[in-house]
Order: sequence, then structure tokens, then C-alpha cells
Amino acid sequence: MKKTKAFQFFNKSFSVNDYSDMYKKLRLDIRYPANVKREQIFIKLLKEHKPKKIVDAGCGAGMPLIHIKKQGFNIIGYDKAENMILEAKKNLELYRLPSDLVFIDDFENPKKIKNNSVDCILGMGAFYYAKNVKKTLLNQKKKLKKNGRLIFSLRNRLFDIVTLNNYTKSFLDEIYEVKKLKKEWKNQYKHLTKNFTDRKITKLEKNIDEEGVYNHIPHNPITISDEMSKLGLSVEGIYFYHYHAFPPVFETYDSLHFRKNSWKIENPIDWRGYFLASTFIVDCKKVS
Ligand SMILES: C[S@@+](CC[C@H](N)C(=O)[O-])C[C@H]1O[C@@H](n2cnc3c(N)ncnc32)[C@H](O)[C@@H]1O
Repeated sequence: MKKTKAFQFFNKSFSVNDYSDMYKKLRLDIRYPANVKREQIFIKLLKEHKPKKIVDAGCGAGMPLIHIKKQGFNIIGYDKAENMILEAKKNLELYRLPSDLVFIDDFENPKKIKNNSVDCILGMGAFYYAKNVKKTLLNQKKKLKKNGRLIFSLRNRLFDIVTLNNYTKSFLDEIYEVKKLKKEWKNQYKHLTKNFTDRKITKLEKNIDEEGVYNHIPHNPITISDEMSKLGLSVEGIYFYHYHAFPPVFETYDSLHFRKNSWKIENPIDWRGYFLASTFIVDCKKVS
């Protein structure tokens, strides 16, 4: 499949509209409000840390930035997708805020933010689209003042265990080192995992991965502190969101029931988040 760059996918009009609407209409019959939950967690953390100067990297259509600004914070944002920035400017005007709070830049290597100048950088559903996540995080860290915060969301690799589909199979194949199994055991193993297959997806259900958009492999919340400390970032907290109350295929049977039950169990600090949440937020402090 031809690979599309993430910002090119997000530059398309359906994506721009979606990122404007999802924060305005909280309707479980239309979509699961995972990003609304994400925004709530980010705002709670900002209220705790009280940073003076915030940058929203990959701000999209700007709705979270607007909500954060309306809470009294000093925030600017940027995105690489031109149409997202145009939409963000429109949204800012709609909410009577200056449209120059947002501009075009690249979070893999931001050019318009000065080094050591920011108290807090936010990456909401952003950095895992980078070609090189570690390099991106290091480039973001440069922009932070000492003890500044880098708060960003990542995909949860452990969620693969509970999806009971082809992702589960790949996960188990890897940790059981199935390639190395002796032949008879390999057959036994294949038998045990034969039902872990992908569901048939219709054109309408296609998501960003199925569109061939490059996005980085998910991260493991158990090892994330060690990974970040190698980058000079101390993980001060992790918070789970986008819970799945049942294996994802169940959403195709009765999406409303699926979403209502999932919304009910959203809890950023529940241990079940390690498995049932497809995404988590990492709150890091720049220590070196
Ligand atoms: C999943 S959307 C999230 C948008 C917004 N943060 C939100 O929470 O609503 C990801 C955004 O990252 C942007 N993006 C992807 N690659 C980028 C890059 N290299 N630099 C800046 N923005 C990028 C996309 O254009 C898109 O708007």
C-alpha cells in the first residue's frame, strides 16, 4: 500500500472537519469521544502545573487549544497541515480569539519556537506520527526551559493483548518467539491462535492505519519511564484514556452499547487501563 504522510492525511477536508466537530458535538452515536477525554486530562494536568507559556504541537483544527486558552492559559500552537491551520484560524475567530495564535511548523524539527523558551509543550495525538519519535521528542525538549513539561499521548502496545485479533497474534508471536518454536509446537500454537484474525472492514470504517498513513509502533506503558529517562525526561505520571469495555469487534455489533459502557469505565488511573485503554498520556519533566 502506498504510504501517506500523516499531515497529508490530516490535510484532507473530511479530516479537518472531523477535528473541528468532534469537540463541538459530544454524541456517542456519531463517534467515541476519546479525544474529548484526552483534552480533559490535559486540562487537569495544566491546572496542576500552571505553566506560564504553552505550545500545542500538532494543534490540528485548534479546538483543544481554544478550550485551554479559555481557561486563562497563555498558549500558541502549530501544525504542518495547512488546511488544519486555516480551520484553526477560523475556529479562533469564531471564539473571538486572535487567529495568529496558530501557525505552520513541523513538530519533528520546529523552526519557529526558540530553544529553552517554553514551560510546557503538548502533543495531543501527535508525536506518534513522526518518522522518528525519539528524535522528535529530543527536538521538543530543546524548546523547553529546565524542569519544563512535555505532555503527550502515545498508543498503548499492551492493548494488543486484549483486542483478540491479528494485533494480539502479532504481539504473542513476538513475545513467545514463535519463529523459534519447533515444528510440532508451531502447529499447536497456530491452532490455538487461529481465531485471532482481522475483521473485514468496510470502506466507511477505514481508519488512519488502513489508509496507509505512517505512524509509529505503539509504546509500552510499563517501560516508558526507562525509555524517557534515556532522553533526559523524567516521567512524572501516566494516564490512560480511550477505554474499550469489550474487544473492539463488538463495536460493530452494537456501537452505542459498546461506547456507553466504554465511556462509563474511563478512568485515567485505573490499572485496567494498561490493557483496556488504547492510548495513554505521558507527563514528563525535562531534567537534563
Ligand atoms: C490526530 S491529529 C490531532 C490534532 C489535535 N492535537 C487534537 O488533539 O485535536 C494530529 C495532528 O498532527 C499533525 N501533524 C502530523 N505530522 C506533523 C508534523 N510533522 N508537524 C506538525 N504537525 C503534524 C496533523 O496534521 C494533525 O493535525
